[in-house]
Amino acid sequence: MDTDRLLRELTDFLRIPSVSTLPAHNADCRAAAEWVAGELRRLGCREVQFLASGTHPVVWGVGPDVPGAPTLLLYGHYDVQPPDPLDEWTTPPFEPTVRDAKLFARGAADDKGQVFCLLKAIEATGRPPVNFRFLIEGEEEYGSRVLFELLRREPERTGADVVLIADMSYIAPKWPAVYTTLRGLCYAEITVRTAKSDLHSGEFGGAAPNAHEELVRLLARLKTPDGKIQVPGLYGAVRRPTKAELATWKSLPFKDGEFLKHRVQARALTGLKGHSVLERLWALPTLEIHGIMGGFTADGAKTVIPAEATAKVSLRLVPNQKLKTVERQLAAAVRRFAPKYVQASVKFLHGADPATVKVTHPAFKLLDQAFREVVGRGTVPARAGGSIPVVPALGKGGAAVILTGIGLPDDRLHAPNEKLDLKQLWDGIKVFRRFYELLGARGAEDGR
Ligand code: BES
Ligand code: MN
Ligand code: MN
Repeated sequence: MDTDRLLRELTDFLRIPSVSTLPAHNADCRAAAEWVAGELRRLGCREVQFLASGTHPVVWGVGPDVPGAPTLLLYGHYDVQPPDPLDEWTTPPFEPTVRDAKLFARGAADDKGQVFCLLKAIEATGRPPVNFRFLIEGEEEYGSRVLFELLRREPERTGADVVLIADMSYIAPKWPAVYTTLRGLCYAEITVRTAKSDLHSGEFGGAAPNAHEELVRLLARLKTPDGKIQVPGLYGAVRRPTKAELATWKSLPFKDGEFLKHRVQARALTGLKGHSVLERLWALPTLEIHGIMGGFTADGAKTVIPAEATAKVSLRLVPNQKLKTVERQLAAAVRRFAPKYVQASVKFLHGADPATVKVTHPAFKLLDQAFREVVGRGTVPARAGGSIPVVPALGKGGAAVILTGIGLPDDRLHAPNEKLDLKQLWDGIKVFRRFYELLGARGAEDGR
């Protein structure tokens, strides 16, 4: 493997600041889409198109025909999360740097590095052994609205035997995984207005309502200190994992103490008592406050009573919950918890239903074999706490959806100093190459 060349190429991709949620980066998202399209052409795709060409195009590709072989759809995303806080990066987020055999950059693991891995594994096969299709989108980190619409209009795009998604990590070093569920997401802004405009806190303080005070009280009502979410009805659809599944989680290489000390790096873990940490991360809904806006936050001091305050919040949803229902439940809870003299409103920004996939299709055995051959251990089934909005839609046409990844749990996705271990990347290219070849060889028999 010409690792120097590969590293140079990945570095070019990572240098493009394709932050999908910030309009200032629209041109960069376009440039990242062009980069992907260029790679697909180099792989000999007979069709490469930008679909739903709103701001961040979906890159669609059709690989060379391989008669009799199965069809494999590769899904991934070229967009990334905002890199802030910038001063916490050791080297700048869009100047990819290798330290300690790790490549540091925004998108190194989520998901540009993994898209790169899937594509370079095709190149490594020499001649593609299966019928490749590609859907590489640029809005995953912002809810995938464009791709959703597209798949509703053109569901035939997902007509494949297998969909492969590499947008996750091993569950521990040397422990590759396939994921059986993803959590869903309901992202919202809650706004509270208490007066026509801001007021002098001396003239009015003591008698006028304060928007920030009302907002924090409202937010505090939404969750108890021990982690129970107080949105009425929210837990109604939640099913506990079976005893058997909970038991298998006990044998995974996951230790609460290590998780706290090395990954969370806080003083204590929080959340619902009576449920293991993995159950809290994988099988229970959450409510998080991401930020609170409004009032006076600049340098110095200003004595003012704010008239408006907004919080960005999100709930993670677990299998059997529905985004639409949860949106209704959250809006009702906000109406119910806000006092009469407060105007409270909820605006939903984006969201995703949770996803469940079966891991029984023969292709899972082939991926297991590929990992076993290359890294010495096959895949363990696990669940994931994160979300990939289009996963339920990708499986609608009957394809087996494989959720896996080559990252490691300490890659710091969405956070400062995101990285990808180079060993994971080189191994990943070998694993996927082997998987493609196994799938191609089995195609004529039962691989489909
Ligand atoms: N790759 C992640 C999803 C992920 C992360 C799954 C870790 C499993 C483990 C993806 O890029 C992501 O971050 N998705 C967003 C979706 C949202 C913005 C709609 C997420 O989960 O916050
Ligand atoms: Mn991702
Ligand atoms: Mn992400």
